Amino acid sequence: MKQITLNIDKTLGFISKEQIFAQEANAKECVATLHAGTGKGNDFLGWLHLPSSISEAGINDIQATANKLRNQCEVVVVVGIGGSYLGAKAVIDALSATFEAFENNRKNPVIVYAGHNIGEDYLYELSSYLKGKQFGIINISKSGTTTEPALSFRILKKQLEDAIGKNETKERIVAITDKARGALHTLAKKEGYKTFVIPDDVGGRFSVLTPVGLLPIAVAGIDIKQLVLGAVSMEKATGTDIPFAENPAAIYAATRNELYKSGKKIEILANFHPKLHYVSEWWKQLYGESEGKENKGIFNASVDFTTDLHSMGQWIQEGERSIFETVISVAAPKYKVEVPFDEEDLDGLNFLAGKRVDFVNKMAELGTQLAHVDGGVPNIKIEMPELNEYYLGQLLYFFEKACGISGYMLGVNPFDQPGVEAYKKNMFALLNKPGFETESKAIQARI
Ligand code: PA5
Repeated sequence: MKQITLNIDKTLGFISKEQIFAQEANAKECVATLHAGTGKGNDFLGWLHLPSSISEAGINDIQATANKLRNQCEVVVVVGIGGSYLGAKAVIDALSATFEAFENNRKNPVIVYAGHNIGEDYLYELSSYLKGKQFGIINISKSGTTTEPALSFRILKKQLEDAIGKNETKERIVAITDKARGALHTLAKKEGYKTFVIPDDVGGRFSVLTPVGLLPIAVAGIDIKQLVLGAVSMEKATGTDIPFAENPAAIYAATRNELYKSGKKIEILANFHPKLHYVSEWWKQLYGESEGKENKGIFNASVDFTTDLHSMGQWIQEGERSIFETVISVAAPKYKVEVPFDEEDLDGLNFLAGKRVDFVNKMAELGTQLAHVDGGVPNIKIEMPELNEYYLGQLLYFFEKACGISGYMLGVNPFDQPGVEAYKKNMFALLNKPGFETESKAIQARI
């Protein structure tokens, strides 16, 4: 098996190789600190050896539950927010057919999402879509108390119970939550739902390789064993025994921190493959929530190319020079489409006749890289040999490991998210939630 590769050559000229290698000792220390469990947030390091510690029995249990839902359901609703849905959606979108639906391919249930917003129209339309369909629910919440998924689940559970009765509903709901605490844990025990545990020491945004990600991914018909195997290979490739120059996670962490110090405050994750849109969304949470604290941290943005070259391309080429770009490139497409010859050639494209569409895409990618570098945008390139379970597993773990190292290099605790509570406190106060009486009075004076 090959490995995803990292190329930082096109950052040189903005920062030097010497600058990056001056970070070697620091990066190695951060890797060692992660592995020794002696750094900030060290009670949330369960993800570090997660790939290599997933048991065969654990995978089989997830697969068996997924198979049951696959047999029962046309549609499975994944309920969760942030780290409790983004990993699953990233992998499912990346590896599922774009236009495949249950109606014309009865292999896989349609996966839809809820609990990641509080949109009344969204929930109305989802409920309408589910009417008359055989559906199931995977309800994911580590705390078990997050408002968005709890609200959506209440509505969907009622709809399911009304449609098929309480007893059947039990067979169609799986809860993924804390092993002992929280409202979802209590409800699941009371109702007798099948449950999976989110380990105490794995935070939401690092949980894609726990049942949080693996169960929905398996329901979508994706090979979770290969995904985990890919992650295992990257776990090995980024271990403490790997020299700095050969550790892609350490090099990525050191490079982006040097760029940040040089004034590049925004990192744009770009792809040239539309299926990777949600990998970027997952990545934004991973890095944004891990590093954006203590008034520090790179701002994480993302674009899908070439689509967004026609919207954000101008800004990237000529706007404020505070950005660098990390591009995920997929070397080989899965399918083959050639540009046909056309007698009339009114569109002038006959010079491409017989060429693969991917060849055109690759030239767009190369042309964009050179243009952006010329325009003052350092470029980091991550190449996946192809878009499959194995290399996606590598990519996810690569980003997680680099995030841990990068957060330590920045000097923050990459494993907490205290800032997320601020809006919740205000929302509860405004909603007059019991227990928030003082905050409710205080907030009324401010509006
Ligand atoms: O990364 C995180 O910890 C968060 O994004 C959480 O995953 C998110 O807030 C959902 O929390 P919970 O799973 O407790 O409902």
